[in-house]
Amino acid sequence: MSVSGKAERRERILRAAVHQGLMDPETALLAGFVDLDGVDETVTSLREAFPESLRVLHAFAAKANCLVPVLEELRLAGMGCEVASAGELAQALEAGFEPARIVFDSPAKTRAELARALSLGVTVNADGFQELSRLDEILATRRSDSRIGVRVNPQVGAGSIGAMSTATATSKFGVPLEDEGNRQRLVQAYRERPWLTWVHTHVGSQGCPLDLIARGVAKAVEFAEEVNERLGRRQVTGIDIGGGLPVNFGSDETTPGFGAYVDRLREHAPALFSGAYEIVTEFGRSVMAKNGFTAAYVEYTKTVGGRPIAITHAGAQVAARTVFAPEAWPLRIEAHDPRGHAKHGRPVPQDVAGPCCFAGDLLAREHPLPLLDAGDIVVVPDTGAYYFSTPFHYNSLPEPAVHGARVDADGAVTFRLLRPAQKEHPVPARAGG
Ligand SMILES: Cc1ncc(COP(=O)(O)O)c(C=O)c1O
Repeated sequence: MSVSGKAERRERILRAAVHQGLMDPETALLAGFVDLDGVDETVTSLREAFPESLRVLHAFAAKANCLVPVLEELRLAGMGCEVASAGELAQALEAGFEPARIVFDSPAKTRAELARALSLGVTVNADGFQELSRLDEILATRRSDSRIGVRVNPQVGAGSIGAMSTATATSKFGVPLEDEGNRQRLVQAYRERPWLTWVHTHVGSQGCPLDLIARGVAKAVEFAEEVNERLGRRQVTGIDIGGGLPVNFGSDETTPGFGAYVDRLREHAPALFSGAYEIVTEFGRSVMAKNGFTAAYVEYTKTVGGRPIAITHAGAQVAARTVFAPEAWPLRIEAHDPRGHAKHGRPVPQDVAGPCCFAGDLLAREHPLPLLDAGDIVVVPDTGAYYFSTPFHYNSLPEPAVHGARVDADGAVTFRLLRPAQKEHPVPARAGG
């Protein structure tokens, strides 16, 4: 889809949502939208980026958008699912993924979680030596169809967002390959466990340049080759390269694309394409971010110290990362009138605030936009991953509805409810009786 096509499609979906009452200034002040046609296109571009001759399972990282109907759509589009907790595993199963197409990564898997994953046949990536010992204990008492790997930390360094960088010298994830004695110890772990047949890595997420990610994957592939060479048998048969493709939050352009990433992988890790290994990928943000947006009514406007401020219904409860770490997670904002049409006035720097009771609850500061009025709607693009599906329950603000949308060739929009709005004032049940 063209770049202008994306903005047009957002506007079309928003106008239809207002028209059909899914956005309403009294009853539906805030909602998330997922462009389901866009999701299909993105999954196709991911699949097409890898050579057809390779056996690749693209497992969507559920943490990026864990709504069960979204997972279901991704399953129907041909993806598997990567989960990082018992909750996400339950969501993936509920969405209908076969256990063999689910990958369980977490640095804190309990014995019970491991036993369940192994009995289901879910793929497990162990995060360290202690977890391998737990797997030994479980596998001593039962057999399992699970594919099992070890997550390695290639220690190639950080990207521009420290919190998203998982391949630093002291990261909490995986077995650090460069720490003294670890390679030897890990090769020995593979030697003693013929069922250990995969190598996993995830170098980092947003903020990591493609070369850094590809260099990290290359070290994981080199390690797999080393294991097979030192063991004198091809024990490692699969490599899980994680996710992490960064997303462009600055415009509607999808850069970098999956194709550019695969080019870098070919350069740094040619053995990955030899056909000797099955591949798993675990992309999250790059699959969903640009296929979702948030829309919220402006309740009031005011001018303070000379600065126009729009008080909207979207704040930290739906955009925690942007509100608490605005430099790392800037978002675009678009101004629409009450019927959902884009506003085209002269851009005026204004703050776009949320409803939460703290001063920092701002989606954007001094953002140039056509001047917003009460009753207008702000649209926040690129929020399909890690935003409306990752709520922050401040001020008892309810989770908004999330709607999936498809636009037919005539421009007609049909919606599918992906998550109902939470009731206005959720009151927890009292304990005891
Ligand atoms: C192990 C693992 N795989 C995949 C992902 C997904 O990363 P992204 O959404 O950047 O593609 C993450 C993100 O934290 C992760 O920790």
